[in-house]
Amino acid sequence: MTMTAEATAEAVSLDAVTRTYGPVRALDGVTWTFRRGGFTAVMGPSGSGKSTFLHCASGLDRPTEGTVRIGGVDIGRLSETKRTRLRRERIGYVFQDFNLVPSMDVEQNITLPLHLGGVRADRAWLEEVVRRVGLSDRLRHRPSELSGGQQQRAALARALVTRPEVVFADEPTGALDPRTARDVLRLLRETVDATGQTLVLVTHDPAAAAWADSVLFLSGGRIVDELADPSPSSVAARWETL
Ligand SMILES: Nc1ncnc2c1ncn2[C@@H]1O[C@H](COP(=O)(O)OP(=O)(O)OP(=O)(O)O)[C@@H](O)[C@H]1O
Ligand SMILES: [Mg+2]
Repeated sequence: MTMTAEATAEAVSLDAVTRTYGPVRALDGVTWTFRRGGFTAVMGPSGSGKSTFLHCASGLDRPTEGTVRIGGVDIGRLSETKRTRLRRERIGYVFQDFNLVPSMDVEQNITLPLHLGGVRADRAWLEEVVRRVGLSDRLRHRPSELSGGQQQRAALARALVTRPEVVFADEPTGALDPRTARDVLRLLRETVDATGQTLVLVTHDPAAAAWADSVLFLSGGRIVDELADPSPSSVAARWETL
């Protein structure tokens, strides 16, 4: 397959993606391209389809209709095994409900994607990620021995440790105090700027969304607006009218 310049400039693209659950159209014909190295925030009311959008865009879930391409590859045409491998190699995912493995300690959880992929840990990067999410002194703790915010930060470290091309983060600062949230957002922003990683982040917080290059607004399973160069006040103002 030949790659055009456009194909390589796009990290993930969705074409007329619909995901229904019985009568519910959780995503309703969404067409969007996330360009490489971009940081996009996704906002919208509860139930507007944000998590469904991320599940479909990341290959975790299959759309009912439409096409999803990751790095130019139509993932609908891949076998389950190949789709899983592509996800493991290229995608980092921070789940809204963390999804940590209860029987594993923090370090085992964070390095799990490396073990699954048969990749040796880059110790320096692992230590930096752990330090920057503030978990260096919690590595031997199990998730049940952590606060909600610490579990959230472990889930984030797990998504970053493989240096994925694209990170999807579903409300990764929802359980954090404002200062810790700011530290996490700064880490994400710096990772995007330094590595050209693509980041898609769901948030309900205008201050968090303002770290992004642009903000997408979802309503009723559709993209209803985009706001470039967001500030906390411009995001809050747009949110008011949603
Ligand atoms: N597994 C499922 N089975 C049935 N309906 C679902 C399922 N997952 C999501 N939905 C429905 O799809 C719609 C979108 O859900 P989704 O989780 O994407 O919303 P969201 O924007 O992430 O909301 P929140 O801000 O509360 O996390 C909702 O109406 C929800 O009830
Ligand atoms: Mg959600």
